[in-house]
Amino acid sequence: MSELSDIRREYSLGEMHSENVPDDPMELFNCWLEVVKDSEIKDPTAMSLATVDDNGQPFQRIVLLKRFGDDGFVFFTNLESRKAQHIAINSQVSLLFPWHTLEKQVAITGVAEPLSKTEVLKYFMSRPKDSQIAAWVSKQSSPISARKALETKFSEMKAKFAKGDVPLPKFWGGYIVKPTSIEFWQGGENRLHDRFIYEKSAGEQWARSRLAP
Ligand SMILES: Cc1cc2nc3c(=O)[nH]c(=O)nc-3n(C[C@H](O)[C@H](O)[C@H](O)COP(=O)(O)O)c2cc1C
Repeated sequence: MSELSDIRREYSLGEMHSENVPDDPMELFNCWLEVVKDSEIKDPTAMSLATVDDNGQPFQRIVLLKRFGDDGFVFFTNLESRKAQHIAINSQVSLLFPWHTLEKQVAITGVAEPLSKTEVLKYFMSRPKDSQIAAWVSKQSSPISARKALETKFSEMKAKFAKGDVPLPKFWGGYIVKPTSIEFWQGGENRLHDRFIYEKSAGEQWARSRLAP
């Protein structure tokens, strides 16, 4: 068994050259996500979401990206969860796409804003019925006595909503992260990795710089 300190590898899958890097980070993100979706990576849309509590203590957890566009990056969650409580205190968040098996990562900073009820409802209605019921069952991030309690509540809710549509719980919704910076990292040979960061200026234009690895 190798020592942890001996675990390393060379990165050689690609290089980034400024003449080929688009001015619009969303164009580059879209391009990378397509590569990831076509790869063996499971959960290609999984991203780590970092928030901070009222003491400045950061916490991260994975959520799934459900949409992105010029307006930002969208995920759905419980509006009474720890992450939602953090965002209510400090809406500045960070997202990380850990596509390291492709020698890539994308790191984002931004501001999380609640999604419109219309968008939440549209997405909620598109979910499988059992997922809709599960949203009713879990008081996310609260202590519970045992798994059995969840299972019992799931059966109760399944019976309750057996007929007709499952209504949207008032404590369920989503956020759009409006990016202020987006950094792309591509592993390179001899640790000469490529890093391009796009930062939003006051005029809402993206400025791009290359960073040392
Ligand atoms: C692959 C994966 C995908 C997940 N997707 C979501 C998601 O889209 N929304 C969500 O609320 N939690 C998702 N979770 C669970 C979160 O990581 C987390 O446990 C939960 O949201 C509670 O976080 P909090 O207590 O910090 O609010 C996912 C977990 C994994 C491992």
